[in-house]
Amino acid sequence: MIPDDIVEEVRARADIVEVVGEFVSLKKAGREFKANCPFHEERTPSFHVVPEKGFYKCFGCDKSGDVFSFVMERMGMDFIEAVKHVAGRAGVEVPQVGRRAEQEDPNRIFHEVNGFARDWFRAQLLDEKAGAGARTYLDSRGIDEQIAKRFGLGFAPDEWRTLREAAASHGLDEKTMLEAGLIKNKEGNGESYDRFRGRIIFPIDAVSGKVIAFGGRVLGQGSKKAPKYLNSPETPVYHKGHNLYGLSGAKHAIRREESALVVEGYMDVVSLAAHEFDNVVAPLGTSVTPEQAKLLSRYCKRVIILFDADPAGLKATFRAGDVFLAAGLHPAVVTLPPDEDPDTIVRTAGAEVLRGHVDDAVDVLDRKLQILDEKDYFSTIERTRSAVDRLLPTLRSVTDAALRDIYISKVSDYTGVRRETLEVEIQSGSLEPRFTKRESRAQLSSGFRPGTQGRGAERLILKLMLSGKEWVERAVARISAKTFDDPYNRAIFQRLVEKPETVVPSPDWEFLVRQRFNKILADQEPFSRGINEDFEKSVNRMLASVLDQEMEGLQQQIAVAPNDEKARLLTELNKLSGELRDLDPTLWMAATRGIASKTSTN
Ligand code: CTP
Ligand code: MN
Repeated sequence: MIPDDIVEEVRARADIVEVVGEFVSLKKAGREFKANCPFHEERTPSFHVVPEKGFYKCFGCDKSGDVFSFVMERMGMDFIEAVKHVAGRAGVEVPQVGRRAEQEDPNRIFHEVNGFARDWFRAQLLDEKAGAGARTYLDSRGIDEQIAKRFGLGFAPDEWRTLREAAASHGLDEKTMLEAGLIKNKEGNGESYDRFRGRIIFPIDAVSGKVIAFGGRVLGQGSKKAPKYLNSPETPVYHKGHNLYGLSGAKHAIRREESALVVEGYMDVVSLAAHEFDNVVAPLGTSVTPEQAKLLSRYCKRVIILFDADPAGLKATFRAGDVFLAAGLHPAVVTLPPDEDPDTIVRTAGAEVLRGHVDDAVDVLDRKLQILDEKDYFSTIERTRSAVDRLLPTLRSVTDAALRDIYISKVSDYTGVRRETLEVEIQSGSLEPRFTKRESRAQLSSGFRPGTQGRGAERLILKLMLSGKEWVERAVARISAKTFDDPYNRAIFQRLVEKPETVVPSPDWEFLVRQRFNKILADQEPFSRGINEDFEKSVNRMLASVLDQEMEGLQQQIAVAPNDEKARLLTELNKLSGELRDLDPTLWMAATRGIASKTSTN
């Protein structure tokens, strides 16, 4: 038997959306949540969860009930097991009940020492004398007792063994204290000592509310000897990459506001809470992990990243952005003024100013495009090409289908690379890193199946020329050796023009040319039925890439040319541009976008 008041406490503290959400994927619909019913087959969702009332109902199969009956039904548990299951999620301690020997929770002992330590740190902070300096420090950072209490903040005095001794006299076992990371072994055979000394203590909770670890901050600036922050090590109950600081307290607000603010660390979380931002979490001293993103995705779809504006913060922002995208979340990015973090903004400028920044959050891909643009990445074709490379990881990360579509369209618009080409590059994992100069730009063009892309275009032409003399004639009519970008391909073309009947490489050719020739011969893949079209495309591709390179050269000349010379060069550029447009509209678009932005920025 579980006492009724405990059952009621579990029911009150339980989050039915969270418990049910472990089994079905709930979508918010007004004040309710909907999903396909887990109890009968259906294709449109008629299963409703009403968090305010703590019940669920399916309008299809008529099943309904509360959080306990859901768990009983779904997991085949009896009532007591269900209450315990839910209590575990809600962070309510259920006293041992009679009946047969219960399965011991192997982690119970950790929860016990961590709980003890949290209470002890807390008592130190509240202690008239011991905690005075720490309270002054918190005060100086705008954290009043109400907020300190909400986060269970404490203080570890600047002593070597006070916690260890308190734990011992409480009957806690030294070995567990060591395993929990609260004390450390001294090298040699000395006495073990407290890990946290002279620090404000931030207890770290699991989503359930159970304390599983601690972070500690020095009262001053930190130094080599005493780093600003110190954290619990990984323990059987604590994996820093699987938890988010602040989530246990913020989860309801996150669900209510349908978004989470993600900041860098403890101080930002606590300080924002002091300014009525309740949906704030932080990773724990690492970059955001896939597990953390998954965890957050149980509560909301939209995350707003509020990291420092420095280069390290920006890097972390985009890394986190991709991780969130991969978890099906939709991240937006806030750009803070240089040298500020969310904590300094709320304290110096006020909560309204930070609200303003949050309202100005920009979708993560848009922000990436903005930054690339600011860094002048779309000014030349070469750089546009590398901008595409920088954007691909983000495109590869998105899992949300609608968002993926929007992202691909956006990148396509910005770079002039067709959607189909982007799709191919997204699928093909990372791009081959080494392109010859001309090929790298030619990749921008599209309309080619993978086999005819880049270097492939030259190879296809050579393979055709090797398959029969008529193709040699057709090729010679359209292109010359100079059309080839790759020197070995160019050499083979030359030989085939000179001696169309060549079928084996001659021993007096250069080794690398012979090797290339054999490679082309070894390519057994039959030509497709659209071979005429492939030939045309490949020829156009190669011609376009030559034109593009000439245009690039002209642009460089124009940039430094005296005025009278400029006009002539511009006419020339226009002519080439027209030819390129006819050959390859996509490459032309990318090329001329470069010209436009160059002339407008210079
Ligand atoms: N951090 C950490 N260990 C460190 C340094 C930082 O775990 N040695 C984590 C902390 O969670 C910290 C976050 O990284 O909150 C960001 O670090 P930093 O910007 O240095 O600290 P702030 O959060 O700005 O802390 P404060 O405002 O108190 O200086
Ligand atoms: Mn700070």
